[in-house]
Amino acid sequence: MLETNRLLIRELGAEDAEIVEELAGDYDIAKTTLSIPHPYPKGGAIGWISSVKEHNEAKRTATFATINKEDNQLIGVIGFNLHMAFNRGEINYWIGKPHWGKGYATEAAKKMVHYGFHELGLNRIYAASFTSNPGSWKVMEKLGMKHEGTFKQHVKKGDEYIDLTYYGMVKEDYVV
Ligand SMILES: CC(C)(COP(=O)(O)OP(=O)(O)OC[C@H]1O[C@@H](n2cnc3c(N)ncnc32)[C@H](O)[C@@H]1OP(=O)(O)O)[C@@H](O)C(=O)NCCC(=O)NCCS
Repeated sequence: MLETNRLLIRELGAEDAEIVEELAGDYDIAKTTLSIPHPYPKGGAIGWISSVKEHNEAKRTATFATINKEDNQLIGVIGFNLHMAFNRGEINYWIGKPHWGKGYATEAAKKMVHYGFHELGLNRIYAASFTSNPGSWKVMEKLGMKHEGTFKQHVKKGDEYIDLTYYGMVKEDYVV
């Protein structure tokens, strides 16, 4: 369990399935991500949560719920895809639309970066977002990550090729 001023970052459990489905089911979450299905399948979150548990245990990921401490409600999900052969983690996050614009993604991601370098033993943390998604890459900038490049038409969503913007940082450059 990780804690910030306003948030708890904790393991996901079966009790989170309903709210995950509700929040991740909004097209505005699926629109700028590659792995969230739309429409979100009814009952799909429970299977996703058990796969998260498996991947976390195998250290392939470190994926957690982001919880608002005030009312103990899940407001998003945050995590790393881990490549422990290289002590490298790719951070990813979403925050439910009703909670956007309040600094929650930045607050949660800052804590995760600290956790990544100091607890998971990562040497490099990086992130990729659609170039057209400033809400995401601004979070990366606020974490102190540096812009490393833009990969033109690197992925495809539906019929559209999408540019990806990469940000990253290494432990020796991390100050906190
Ligand atoms: C991207 C996302 C996580 C941002 O969450 P958030 O909690 O609203 O982000 P924050 O409040 O911490 O904002 C971080 C910065 O981005 C800016 N920002 C947020 N949304 C923005 C938008 N749509 N357009 C431009 N800037 C935006 C904020 O203003 C803030 O910058 P500032 O402090 O200079 O004003 C959220 O919009 C989301 O979940 N989107 C859908 C899923 C997604 O795209 N995830 C990222 C995949 S790589």
